[in-house]
Amino acid sequence: TTSTGAPRPSFHFTPRQHWMNDPNGLVHHGGLWHLFFQHNPEGPDWGNMSWGHATSPDLEHWTELPVAIAHRPGEQIYSGSVVASRTGDDVLTAYYTSAYDDGHQAQSRATSVDGGLTWDLDPTNPVLDRGTTAFRDPKVIRYDDGGTPRWIMLTVEADDRQVLLYSSTDLVTWEHLSTTGPFGATGVVWECPDLVRLPLDGDADDSRWVLLLSTNPVGEDPDPAGSSMHYVVGHLDGTSFVPEVPEVRRLDHGRDYYAAVTFDDAPDGEAVTIGWMSNWHYARVFPSAPWRGAMSLPRTLALRTVDGRPTLVQSPPAFVRGYLDRVLPTALLVDDQPADLHLSGHSLVELRWDPSATGVVSIRLRGEEDAFVDLMHDPHGRTLSLTRGGPAAEAVHPDFPSTSTVPLSGDGPARLLLSLDGPLLEVFVGDGDATASNLVLLGARGVTLSLEAARPGTLHAAVVDVSAHRETS
Ligand code: FRU
Repeated sequence: TTSTGAPRPSFHFTPRQHWMNDPNGLVHHGGLWHLFFQHNPEGPDWGNMSWGHATSPDLEHWTELPVAIAHRPGEQIYSGSVVASRTGDDVLTAYYTSAYDDGHQAQSRATSVDGGLTWDLDPTNPVLDRGTTAFRDPKVIRYDDGGTPRWIMLTVEADDRQVLLYSSTDLVTWEHLSTTGPFGATGVVWECPDLVRLPLDGDADDSRWVLLLSTNPVGEDPDPAGSSMHYVVGHLDGTSFVPEVPEVRRLDHGRDYYAAVTFDDAPDGEAVTIGWMSNWHYARVFPSAPWRGAMSLPRTLALRTVDGRPTLVQSPPAFVRGYLDRVLPTALLVDDQPADLHLSGHSLVELRWDPSATGVVSIRLRGEEDAFVDLMHDPHGRTLSLTRGGPAAEAVHPDFPSTSTVPLSGDGPARLLLSLDGPLLEVFVGDGDATASNLVLLGARGVTLSLEAARPGTLHAAVVDVSAHRETS
């Protein structure tokens, strides 16, 4: 029942036991996707921060490995990144934040020659130290503009809302290049930056750099919506990041998507992200055991002109498409109004409709003990509202029941993909022009999906029970 907490997701990564937050050190190496993560190996709450480790051959099935970098007396291991050597020597280099008990934070380095299982810490750590207290989250990226390839490290001065850029040719010594920010909303700290080069509308000669930022409200009266992710489209001239338009846009419109960064060295140069599906506002009280914290579905990033602006598009991973393609031949036209379908709760639902024909569309998920998630499409407002509520949601935290507004671009047919895996609900609009990710508490006995359009016979739905297919695969 809901009182014992959320069922464990099946096609998302969760740690076997204990606390997890940010993804760290995402790297594709030796044919495997490596996920390191902020982990308390000793308990269900944030603390003793260390890097956990898991690998996957396909971004769907994950194997958890022993803790990769453990906390030490006087020092916790905060977020950071890993890069794979490009010279064929199989060395992985990690940069992470050493958070010392005296309150100071600095960047440290470690290397691995056994595929990330064990790490040698640099004896000169910390290697980058400004003597400050919120200097963290190093993300090393490859920079190749036709000249000598080099590495650029992004870090934040979190309290100052600044991103600092450093440059290195050997992954050992770093030179400060520039500082970006502050801009955008005040009353937040900046965390977990990343910079991703993406072709605009598929044109490799017309690419942009997209700055990814996670922001967490702090201070007297922090925003009850809690932590969230944003992006800025701009240019990187080798020294500094210059926004193209001074516009900070929401990266995900739900409540539970944070600290997402890209994999280093992904096949075909793709930009693949994973995020932490929770919110600092209530992460510590979300009822799940023996694990606490889940990763999102991996997403592939692209940049497309939507309504005249370069817009970040985030598509679901290939395996999700694979499940849907298997059932599309049996997709149904919902013409008995309303249609009620029973889902296992580890399910994918693809919906298509023409807003000019349907009128208002409502999509409702019902779980145990009056738990609900409602999605409503208002064709005039070109938005989708996403509401989660019910007694179990109210019991998590006063700010857990919520309504989010998700923009729908364009005037054409609407397409929506819902991925529900236990307590993880991810909504992809169209090709991923907008996403919304929420923790939900619907119980462990499956959910009822009700579909309704103002005008009957206009809504198409395809539903896959992922758990049924996984058993045979
Ligand atoms: C983001 C964050 C990072 C930090 C880590 C500590 O969620 O606060 O800034 O490195 O978590 O666990």
